[in-house]
Amino acid sequence: MYVAVIGAGVIGLSTAQCIMNRFQSMVRPLTVVVYADKFTPHTVSDGAAGLWQPYVLDQGNLEEVKWNKETFDYLVSHVNSLDANEMGLFLQSGYNIFKERVPDPSWKDSVLGFRHLTEKELDLFPGFSYGWFNTAIMLEGKSYLPWLMERLKERGVQFVQKKIASFQELSAFDVIVNCTGIRAQELQPDPELKPARGQIIKVYAPWIKHFIVSHDMNTGIYSMPYIIPGSKLVTMGGIFQLDNWSEENDPKDHNTVWEGGCKLLPSLKNARIVEDWTGLRPVRNRIRVERQTFDSGPEKFEVIHNYGHGGYGLTIHWGCAMEAANIFGKILQERKPSWKAPSRL
Ligand code: FAD
Ligand code: BEZ
Repeated sequence: MYVAVIGAGVIGLSTAQCIMNRFQSMVRPLTVVVYADKFTPHTVSDGAAGLWQPYVLDQGNLEEVKWNKETFDYLVSHVNSLDANEMGLFLQSGYNIFKERVPDPSWKDSVLGFRHLTEKELDLFPGFSYGWFNTAIMLEGKSYLPWLMERLKERGVQFVQKKIASFQELSAFDVIVNCTGIRAQELQPDPELKPARGQIIKVYAPWIKHFIVSHDMNTGIYSMPYIIPGSKLVTMGGIFQLDNWSEENDPKDHNTVWEGGCKLLPSLKNARIVEDWTGLRPVRNRIRVERQTFDSGPEKFEVIHNYGHGGYGLTIHWGCAMEAANIFGKILQERKPSWKAPSRL
């Protein structure tokens, strides 16, 4: 069985890993090749802060609630492992703060120790009148992606740096897994997929030990300042611009993020700015994890789509990878034992 994965962000690499974990011992040969034009540290997944946190209002989609939880549970099961540091994985506690009362999130029982803020805690955040505290997980792409690539190489997965122009280019493979994030439209039109531009500032401020994500339910998700300490640097963010395709840093957005963050936590004014970074969140009403069969003409191949993870790709990646692997398993059942060997790789 020959499988091509397009994309080497968190979604492509974790899907490749999940397929190898589940099927390598059953299917011989199982050849997996990952194609991408950008590898770590140059993907969107590398730039993300890496906080495990779904959107605060995600009650509508029960499948995604399940995939978020599966990812949290999977990550928690590794947090005390010897690999945790190399994976960029650690526990992180902090605050979500609001200007009004809001319903509890769907993920309140997934995270550890979810509770409402006390009046004394709210005094720390002038202008905010409601909030939650919980312990979540950090998964830093800049560590996790190299870790995943190493694990895949150990299992014989090949990596090819190449821009793929069409699925047909890879039609020699039995299965193509499409993990192209915001660029999925280059391979197939998808009017539902939109960029939500984000710009962050990474600062050196080792005295900050908790995340603070502020919200204003009138202005939209993540359009408010947030501060997320990582293993080395603190991420200041809060830009969420739908339909903006610019990957350039914008000085106006820099000021918005800087001033918003410093207002929330004035000690940040003493922080050393290390870098600005801009990335496009692949936003969709629902993540697209589904199968599409291409069988016109002489070529027959299957595509498993796995893209559209918005601002929560690290948060939900493992649940989606398992779903994609389930679909792969169904294809295997249907095809067995007539795998075809591709004439060209
Ligand atoms: P990407 O990481 O963009 O990877 C796409 C891959 O596909 C790349 O390797 C690319 O080269 C390849 N590719 C695409 N098209 C082609 C082609 N035609 N040919 C070859 N290769 C191709 N999420 C969280 O869970 N927590 C956070 O704290 C968080 N913070 C964020 C902060 C910001 C500012 C932003 C912008 C996003 C944040 N996110 C966060 C969201 C998260 O970064 C994304 O959901 C996630 O990175 C999407 O992963 P992906 O693998 O789909 O895409
Ligand atoms: C973001 O998309 O900017 C983001 C995601 C998760 C937590 C905080 C911010």
